[in-house]
Amino acid sequence: MRAYGFTEIGGPDKQAFLDVPVPQPGRDQLRLRVRAAGVNPGDWRVREGSYGHHGPTVLGWEVAGTVEAVGAGVSEFVVGDEVFGGCPDMVGGWAEQALTIASFTARRPDAVRPEAAAALPVAAATAYDAMNRFGLPEGSTVLVNGAGGGVGVPAVQLAKARGLRVVGVASPAKHELVARFGGIPVAYGAGVEERVRAAAPEGIDAVLDMVGGDALRTIAALLGNRSRLTSLADKPLALELGGFELVRDRSTAVLTELARLVQTNMLDPYVTDIRPLSDAQAAMALVEQGHATGKVVLIP
Ligand SMILES: NC(=O)c1ccc[n+]([C@@H]2O[C@H](COP(=O)([O-])OP(=O)(O)OC[C@H]3O[C@@H](n4cnc5c(N)ncnc54)[C@H](OP(=O)(O)O)[C@@H]3O)[C@@H](O)[C@H]2O)c1
Repeated sequence: MRAYGFTEIGGPDKQAFLDVPVPQPGRDQLRLRVRAAGVNPGDWRVREGSYGHHGPTVLGWEVAGTVEAVGAGVSEFVVGDEVFGGCPDMVGGWAEQALTIASFTARRPDAVRPEAAAALPVAAATAYDAMNRFGLPEGSTVLVNGAGGGVGVPAVQLAKARGLRVVGVASPAKHELVARFGGIPVAYGAGVEERVRAAAPEGIDAVLDMVGGDALRTIAALLGNRSRLTSLADKPLALELGGFELVRDRSTAVLTELARLVQTNMLDPYVTDIRPLSDAQAAMALVEQGHATGKVVLIP
């Protein structure tokens, strides 16, 4: 089976097309014929060894496809179902056939394209979890740092759907996008504190950060109560600043709800770049640069 991944821990030069056996679904797993697979910054972190994979390993955390085989213990899905979900151990998705975790897989409604469904389990689902954890009442203000990226775009929309005000920090090229989904765009860099205060004179009630480092320190200083601060890019710093580590709800229920939101036009995962698997190297490079707009998806 043709797949794309990495041969050993390291930089982009370790990425390669791999010829690997068709995976067999274990207990509570499904095997899909992959229709589309999402690309995430987490994929290069896997390649760098952050999650214990040594290679050769097939990359890819999230896929949409047709169920081809079901493992022991699976009763919710049958062969032929159109589904989408997260891959075991956060790998294996960039391939013609891939496994998903049955308890983190959901049916894909016909109205939700495979490319859109494949973009939901990592980025949109994380944004969903963050908004749930914040639990802010309507009219509160959330700041999304990195509002034009894979997580940021759904985060802005999911916050708006909850009746929140959203300040979306992004580069100027993404301001029209942030505003289109209802956010108040603010440019990052020198003077960002004043611009945020001007955009939200009532103050900020929560921060969802996708950037980390000094950008996070600057933004965190705007939040009086740090109990509603989390960073997906810099968890240690978020904790140091008094924030929390987001615990993911990797469940079928979350994915089903996200698909419903897409189907009812409440959520657009904003897939901006759809490429054949043969172009995986360029897709990864685009995401690894850290300035992607919306989501990048591969088609085997
Ligand atoms: N734990 C989890 O389950 C989980 C899930 C998803 C993602 N993550 C992590 O969350 C992070 C973001 O993921 P993503 O998919 O959204 O990545 P992404 O698509 O690359 O988006 C990151 C965004 O940040 C913006 N940005 C860069 N520098 C910035 C700065 N100084 N201030 C404000 N914005 C800045 C970038 O665009 P511009 O610079 O052009 O504005 C880009 O749109 C990654 O570190 C990822 O690994 C974790």
